[in-house]
Amino acid sequence: MEERSIAIDGPSGAGKSTLARLTAKKYGLIYVDTGALYRSVGLFALQRGVSSKDEENVVKLLPDIRIELRYDGGGLQRMFLNGKDVTENIRVPEASIYASDVSSMVPVRDFLLAMQREMAVKYDVVMDGRDIGTVVLPDAGLKIFLTARPEVRAERRYAELKAKSISTTYDEVLRDILYRDKNDSERSAAPLKAAEDAILVDTSEMDLEQCLKAICALAEEKLGL
Ligand code: DC
Repeated sequence: MEERSIAIDGPSGAGKSTLARLTAKKYGLIYVDTGALYRSVGLFALQRGVSSKDEENVVKLLPDIRIELRYDGGGLQRMFLNGKDVTENIRVPEASIYASDVSSMVPVRDFLLAMQREMAVKYDVVMDGRDIGTVVLPDAGLKIFLTARPEVRAERRYAELKAKSISTTYDEVLRDILYRDKNDSERSAAPLKAAEDAILVDTSEMDLEQCLKAICALAEEKLGL
């Protein structure tokens, strides 16, 4: 239910997905990574050889896209695109750029909105993204805007990709983060911005444990968890 759900927004690499997942696990909520939905649409365009800037042709692909979220035994989200598990494929740097580009298209956002709202009707969720507190779940019981300096975010993201053996460099990751910050904040459709009633958490100088503690304290205070 929306009032019992947590919305976590913020730029790429602020730690949203790790923290959202851990918070969901601690309180028995369902974690929804909405970036994975945009990444799946981006990946589909990439696979079909459609440029991520070509709105007319990206929109024509939408009727052929069937997206599903499934959960493994440990509550981890797996992303299915037309029946195929793309959980790992959507993480490659090219898919990140495609995701950011297609997410500026209004028909793409509308296509994914109903699915996100449905999840919060069925379950109490921790949902992370860019417009969760502003558009998807405006009545969420707790809204957090999670951020950190771009260099700190790039370092974290680089370590994460390296651990998954995804070939890239720190400079490429930083470039990608700066590109997406600009793209995601400046678009006219549901841009990345903090909801008026969101609580700002800057994680630049915090480690994971400190961030989790801060979020849990807010969840307990605002939602009585
Ligand atoms: O969180 P992420 O890095 O996996 O998201 C990939 C892209 O999807 C991001 O650059 C912007 C877009 N996105 C969005 O526009 N709205 C959301 N709620 C989630 C992601």
